[in-house]
Amino acid sequence: MKIFLDTAELDEIKFACSLGIIDGVTTNPSLIKRAVEKRGGEVSMEEYIKEILRAVPGPVSLEVVGTSFEEMVDEAKRLYMRFSPYGRVVVKIPICSSMDGESNIYDGLRAIGELSRIGIPVNATLVMTPEQAILAAKAGAAYVSPFAGRIDDYIRDSSGMKRGRDYGKADYYDFRLMRLIAEKRLEETLERCEDDDVGRIYLNERVASAAKQGHDNGIYSGVDLVRRIVRIYRNYGYKTEVIAASMRNARQVREVAEAGADIVTIPFYVIKQMLLHPKTIEGMKLFVADVVPQYADLIRSKG
Ligand code: E4P
Repeated sequence: MKIFLDTAELDEIKFACSLGIIDGVTTNPSLIKRAVEKRGGEVSMEEYIKEILRAVPGPVSLEVVGTSFEEMVDEAKRLYMRFSPYGRVVVKIPICSSMDGESNIYDGLRAIGELSRIGIPVNATLVMTPEQAILAAKAGAAYVSPFAGRIDDYIRDSSGMKRGRDYGKADYYDFRLMRLIAEKRLEETLERCEDDDVGRIYLNERVASAAKQGHDNGIYSGVDLVRRIVRIYRNYGYKTEVIAASMRNARQVREVAEAGADIVTIPFYVIKQMLLHPKTIEGMKLFVADVVPQYADLIRSKG
C-alpha cells in the first residue's frame, strides 16, 4: 500500500518525505487555507505549490475550485500546465460539483471524463458511495478518493451523536459495536411487533426506522465504503487506484490496508499514532537499562 500525506503544510511534507515513507501528497482548498493562515496570509501561492511539488517524490493532488464543467476543465488544464514542470500534478475534481442537488450534477463527472481523455490524471474526490466510485472509474479517473472519516461522522451524527460533543474528529468509530447495537434493536422491535403478515411487518414504521439505524444506505462505516469499492474494482478490473481518504486515526489505516486500498492518505499526526505503542516504549526503556558497557563500547567505538 502506498502512503500519501494529506496536508498542504510544507514543513510536514518535507519532514515526512525525509522519513522515506511518503509516496505522494493530497491537498484540498481547506488544507491550503490552513497552511496560508499558519503563515499569517503571507504566501506566494505559486512558489509555495512549486516547493511542495519539488519536495514530493510522487503525485501531488491539487484541487479545482470551480463548480461548472467549463470552470473545472479550464482550472485543471491551468494547474497541470503551470505546475507539471515541477513535479507530478494530479488534478482533484469533485465527483459531483452540485451545491444544491439541482444544478451542476453531471459537471464533475463530465470534467473527469474530459480531462482523463486528454491525458490529465484526475483524482475523483468527495466520493461517499460505491456508486459514485463506479462512475469515476468509468469516466477514466486515475484515482478515486472515498472519504472514510466523513462517512463515519455521517453515520454517527445520523445515530444521534454529535462531533465535538460525543466524539472527537480523530476518534476511532467502532462500527462493529454499532452494528451489534442496531441489530439487537431491530430484533427487539421485531419481537414487539405482533403481526402475522410479513408485508405489514416490513412496512411497520418502527421496524422500518430500526432497520435504517447504524448505516448509510447499506454502508456501515468509512472502512466498509473503501472495502466495497476495492471489491467492485477488482470484480471488473478497473484500473482506477483507490485512495482511502479522510483518514483520522491509525486503526483506520490498518483496516483499509486489510481491505486492499491501493493508497492511504493521512494527516501527519497519524504517522506518529502508527509508530507509538506503550509496550514499545516500555521495551525501549528495558533495553536501554540492560545495556552492559562491553556491548555499548563495542558498537560505539570508532575503531
Ligand atoms: C483528501 O483527499 C481529502 O481531501 C481529505 O482526506 C479530507 O479529510 P477530512 O475529511 O479529514 O477533512
